Amino acid sequence: MLFFDKKVLVGVTGGIAAYKAALLVRELKKESAQVRVVMTDAATKFVAPLTFETLCENPVLLNLFPKEGGLRTAHIDWARWPDIIIICPATANTIGKIAAGIADNALTTTIMATTRAVVFCPAMNKAMYANPIFQGNVAKLEKNGYTFVAPGKGELACGEEGWGRLAEIDEILFAAKKILSPRRDLKNKRVLVTAGPTEEPLDPVRFITNRSSGKMGFALAEAASLRGAEVTLVSGPTNLVASPGIKLVKVRTANEMSEAVFANLGENDVLLMAAAVSDFRPKKISEQKLKKTDAKEILELERTADVLAEAACRKGARIHVGFSVETENEIENSMLKLRNKGLDFIVLNNPLQEGAGFAVDTNRVTILDASGAIEKLPLMSKAEVSDRILDRVGLLL
Ligand code: CTP
Repeated sequence: MLFFDKKVLVGVTGGIAAYKAALLVRELKKESAQVRVVMTDAATKFVAPLTFETLCENPVLLNLFPKEGGLRTAHIDWARWPDIIIICPATANTIGKIAAGIADNALTTTIMATTRAVVFCPAMNKAMYANPIFQGNVAKLEKNGYTFVAPGKGELACGEEGWGRLAEIDEILFAAKKILSPRRDLKNKRVLVTAGPTEEPLDPVRFITNRSSGKMGFALAEAASLRGAEVTLVSGPTNLVASPGIKLVKVRTANEMSEAVFANLGENDVLLMAAAVSDFRPKKISEQKLKKTDAKEILELERTADVLAEAACRKGARIHVGFSVETENEIENSMLKLRNKGLDFIVLNNPLQEGAGFAVDTNRVTILDASGAIEKLPLMSKAEVSDRILDRVGLLL
């Protein structure tokens, strides 16, 4: 909940993507941010201020010279108020003016007067975006500490295809979260995370899997990335979307998971093995769909490789963290896994407990470390659990 009670000023400038700024404000409000909006005159030609006023539950700043006896130093008050400013969309015109030090409307004057982080989200026609004058302005602003969320490639409002469409709202939110993140202790560190279930095929239409949703591993990957780490996420099949900037490697079987982990292991400082890797696979995979008449009553299975156990002999100074799913003798069994797999610590959860385990956004975990110490954490969100795990990783590194 990085946006919880944070003050976010959204600057809207005059481009067709202005309507998407309404979605940004909506998402920020959903994440419990306090939001104010400042619009340029051109922006009001695309979206009415009332839309933003209604969404952010605050008056919209349109003018440096309020007609009805308002504050005469509005730009200073508005420049001091936020924790972060997001300009979405940011036109070539506004970016050019700010790069040139021009302050001729409520938005550009507020930017000139602020000491807060400013995130620009450019959106424009591809030729405007590629224009060397515009690119020079971006480079100048970046050099001065401003952040840019690069536009995506795709169909543009003018009918052309190319670079220039506003970045996805999730990308914009993630860039802002990175700036607001209070901890940057994993900067210059590389973290390998595994997530989700594996699927072990039996024939072209059937497979053996488990109930892992991938939520814990994806939350860990996002939290590590927000703390400045370079993150590789090896994931079995899930419906989740990885945060921008995370290198996602998609796998299906335990064997593919093992290959992907060992292909990436060497260059990482930390391994967080949150995936629920299948321990068994069908001994034979039928090329054709099995008919019920040829199916045997007993399905023959064989063991898969234990990725974490095999990684132990290559551990060196790398931090290895395992996850333990247990429904009985939880502490004893988890301590055994910690020792057998040579881990720094193991995160235990019992999916039978309320709020813990698969497919939910919360977890109730106990952390056991190599010295035998046990820390029982209360029910918390998977994002909070991730931060507690990464606090420990940070201390060990
Ligand atoms: N793990 C692994 N490779 C496997 C199975 C598990 O790397 N083939 C990892 C998991 O990602 C997890 C840890 O080992 O971090 C413990 O997994 P868990 O399923 O709780 O225990 P297992 O070792 O598989 O033992 P059991 O199923 O008997 O409890």
